[in-house]
Amino acid sequence: MEILEAINSRKSVRKFKPDSIIDENIQKLLDAAIKAPTAGNAQPWYFYVIKDKSIKDALSAASLGQKFVNDAPVVIAVCVDPEVSAAKYGDRGRYLYCIQDSAAAVENIMLAAVSMDLGTCWVGAFEEEKVKQVLNMPAGRRPAALIPLGYPEKIDEGFKRKPLNEVVEYKN
Ligand SMILES: Cc1cc2nc3c(=O)[nH]c(=O)nc-3n(C[C@H](O)[C@H](O)[C@H](O)COP(=O)(O)O)c2cc1C
Repeated sequence: MEILEAINSRKSVRKFKPDSIIDENIQKLLDAAIKAPTAGNAQPWYFYVIKDKSIKDALSAASLGQKFVNDAPVVIAVCVDPEVSAAKYGDRGRYLYCIQDSAAAVENIMLAAVSMDLGTCWVGAFEEEKVKQVLNMPAGRRPAALIPLGYPEKIDEGFKRKPLNEVVEYKN
């Protein structure tokens, strides 16, 4: 699939078929994630792949009860260690670069998923401390995003975008 086709067809998926995802495909998504650029190539990220029902239940509860989090056959939690970035770039690494790095990884996963007919939704609304606890994370690691993942049962309409002329300014 062409990259533009993947970008243009990606929409959030919040209803999944129960079909499982083969490990080889999950591996491809993780491989895509780590191809994302990171500031200074610091790669401050860490990924959890969750299939366990009780852990997904707990993640759903930590995500303000968003039910589709535990309906998805797999959830990938994208996490960062801000101190890895801070070691190179101080506060800019701690508060900005590591977040940008994780966002690039999330987008890579989501686009790679489209190319494999998988659906995803970026979930950012969660109680960070609860997610850390549920995944038994070492101190210092921050969950940045949860990505429920599965074969789409229903693809949402997708939200309208502001027109380009409202958000772009040319300086020719
Ligand atoms: C940082 C971030 C956090 C988000 N958190 C949630 C969330 O907690 N729950 C949810 O259903 N969607 C969440 N979304 C998905 C957005 O609602 C969705 O991407 C947006 O409405 C555009 O729709 P589309 O993905 O179909 O293009 C989040 C997206 C981003 C980028």
